[in-house]
Amino acid sequence: MPKSILILGACGQIGTELTYTLREKYGNNQVIASDIREGDQDLMASGPFELLDATNYGALEDVVMHYEIDEVYLMAAMLSATAEKFPMRAWNLNMNSLFNVLNLAKDQKISKVFWPSSIAVFGPNTPKEQTEQNTIMEPSTVYGISKQTGERWCEYYFKKYGVDVRSVRYPGLISYKTLPGGGTTDYAVEIYHKALSDKKYSCFLKADSKLPMMFMDDAIRATITIMESDPEKIKVRSSYNLAAMSFTPSEMAANIKQHIPEFEMSYAPDSRQQIADSWPSSIDDSVAQKDWGWKAEFDLERTTQEMLENLSK
Ligand SMILES: NC(=O)c1ccc[n+]([C@@H]2O[C@H](COP(=O)([O-])OP(=O)(O)OC[C@H]3O[C@@H](n4cnc5c(N)ncnc54)[C@H](O)[C@@H]3O)[C@@H](O)[C@H]2O)c1
Repeated sequence: MPKSILILGACGQIGTELTYTLREKYGNNQVIASDIREGDQDLMASGPFELLDATNYGALEDVVMHYEIDEVYLMAAMLSATAEKFPMRAWNLNMNSLFNVLNLAKDQKISKVFWPSSIAVFGPNTPKEQTEQNTIMEPSTVYGISKQTGERWCEYYFKKYGVDVRSVRYPGLISYKTLPGGGTTDYAVEIYHKALSDKKYSCFLKADSKLPMMFMDDAIRATITIMESDPEKIKVRSSYNLAAMSFTPSEMAANIKQHIPEFEMSYAPDSRQQIADSWPSSIDDSVAQKDWGWKAEFDLERTTQEMLENLSK
């Protein structure tokens, strides 16, 4: 029997591309997309879709039973910048959706879970450069606290109940198919849209705020690779560090200028600066490389080429 996959939060920045890639791999009808809202037309037309609130256990269980789901990818969450505005809503969404999925796996209604963590699990006391897999964490944002707590619960469900849950700590993700959903690294996507439309961009982070980033194709490949790895290779059941590149807004602007010489960047840091200041500048992902063979392929220049080429179409 081919396996059935359910994606929660499928209309978001990552969920959209994950849905397309998994449908290509496993067949359109094997991958059920779901979200609390409808997504873009192409996504909706590409296969089965369910309007589903990931915090509603009963509704989630009904969908899992109806489609005989084997694996769940939980992409529904409230991201860092929005979560600072609505702390309790963020906590409820980020934690309850995770408990619902972990409990479905604990009760053997599904066999495997993917849940993403984030570099936001680290905090101001974490060493900033080449941040290691195991180090000081102490996150200082609502979002980071929810991700660190989620990691602890994932490991707990693995150890106590044998739940096969797999996770990576995504850096800021850069993509052209769907706009980002309220994170601190959103500037790294907006900048390409504005470079093409206005030839200028006002960045909400300071020129020298260096953060870890990744092109979406790498993120999707990491997600599917960890899910398809043999279980004994997955030695970390909280979440793996994952890295591709690190750069500052001014380095990104300089790179875009090589393609669009008229491009001008200005800086107007807002409340997101404080979140960015609490995160690492670069990540050591050697444990993921060793355990399940992870290696990023896209650097800044290749990302810029892909972004400008695809957004110009
Ligand atoms: N994008 C990034 O740069 C990044 C970085 C690190 C971690 N992550 C993590 O990856 C995951 C996906 O992120 P994203 O960037 O695609 O987020 P996004 O905000 O673009 O998408 C989240 C989706 O979840 C949906 N959603 C919200 N509440 C829901 C609910 N109750 N039930 C079902 N769906 C609901 C939203 O409608 C949205 O389509 C999140 O866990 C996020 O924390 C993302």
